Amino acid sequence: MTTTGKGPAGPGGGSTAPADLPVDGASEAAGSTALHDGPPPGERTDGDTRVPTAVGPTVVDPVAPARGPEERLSSGPVMLGPIRRRVSLTLDGREVRVPEGATILDALHDEGTPEQADTPTICWAPNMDPINACRVCVVEVEGSRALVPSCARQCEDGMAVRTDTEKVKHSRRMVLELLASSVDMDRASADVQRWMDEYGVDAQRYGPPAPPAAAGERDRRHAGHHHAPDGATAATVHQPVKVDNDLYVRDYSRCVLCYKCVNACGSDAQFTFAITAAGRGFDARIATEYDNPLPESACVYCGNCIGVCPTGALISRREYELREAGDWHPEEQTVSTTVCSFCGVGCNLELHVQQNEIVNVTSPADHSVTHGHLCIKGRFGFQHVQNL
Ligand code: SF4
Ligand code: SF4
Ligand code: FES
Repeated sequence: MTTTGKGPAGPGGGSTAPADLPVDGASEAAGSTALHDGPPPGERTDGDTRVPTAVGPTVVDPVAPARGPEERLSSGPVMLGPIRRRVSLTLDGREVRVPEGATILDALHDEGTPEQADTPTICWAPNMDPINACRVCVVEVEGSRALVPSCARQCEDGMAVRTDTEKVKHSRRMVLELLASSVDMDRASADVQRWMDEYGVDAQRYGPPAPPAAAGERDRRHAGHHHAPDGATAATVHQPVKVDNDLYVRDYSRCVLCYKCVNACGSDAQFTFAITAAGRGFDARIATEYDNPLPESACVYCGNCIGVCPTGALISRREYELREAGDWHPEEQTVSTTVCSFCGVGCNLELHVQQNEIVNVTSPADHSVTHGHLCIKGRFGFQHVQNL
């Protein structure tokens, strides 16, 4: 049987693809095993009865000239991504269509106006699974009792999303304001700083910050053992910086408990599970097992937690030392991309160079090998380049 034109023919001649599948090469793949004469794709003609090992759908381009069986077999299967339905929803009244499984934030990024695409986020990252912790990305969804986190909620057919209501703006401002009143946000990303300005955050309205905790004091707190605040000052997470190893420091005065480091250390990238959240309520904090110093913990110093931290709570020891000395000048730094030479995996490295010295190493989040994550050698093993 030969089929031409749009619309794949399934067994019995009817289309097996959902009506709203995108009409592209992917949709043509569905049920298109009989587009040309000859053996079905994957069937051997040379007497070899072994099962072919193609791992993706075999696609025959309907507009390409017909090819002979030998030619088809020699070219091999064409690998495509999974076929996904599209769902329709409205963003502030405007209808858009996105692939099934996309989150509301994906829809805002891909199909929204510039204002909608600029939805604030803190715990979300393009190279991580949604964490759904900070709630700064909330939107209104018609029929939903509470505001929903756009980074984690999947789009559904007929969903009506509003991003521009007073309720949404007020909630985002409160989240940013409460964080800014209790956490040192000076080194939060430029976007977070901008969102705090745009949403009119006034961290001072809760009163002056309470004095910092002594070293280790917050780590020893137990749920229910804390005292009521005095009401005259705003409770904070301020505490001394933890410097207990040669590679990176932890400054939990800057921690917004976004859990990115926990997930990067765990099931999102490293699978080491050296850190997690300890404590409850306002005393919750990121900790190693039994609050051990890092050298006595399970940490393998991959630095992936540093790579994802949005507030500067986790930084390399070199950056910390340069900042302490007043010699950290990001505006003077250049970034060169190269390939890590330690092994054959092929991770991309971004070398941040200041005054002819490598001062930091990162990896691009959209790199297909690393997805922004590295190991200890790639992230910290650069001294040999400059200490010759
Ligand atoms: S450096 Fe790596 S192993 Fe150590 S805490 Fe960070 S993510 Fe976990
Ligand atoms: S240390 Fe950084 S990444 Fe980890 S929870 Fe705190 S702010 Fe988030
Ligand atoms: S960015 Fe969505 S909950 Fe944090």
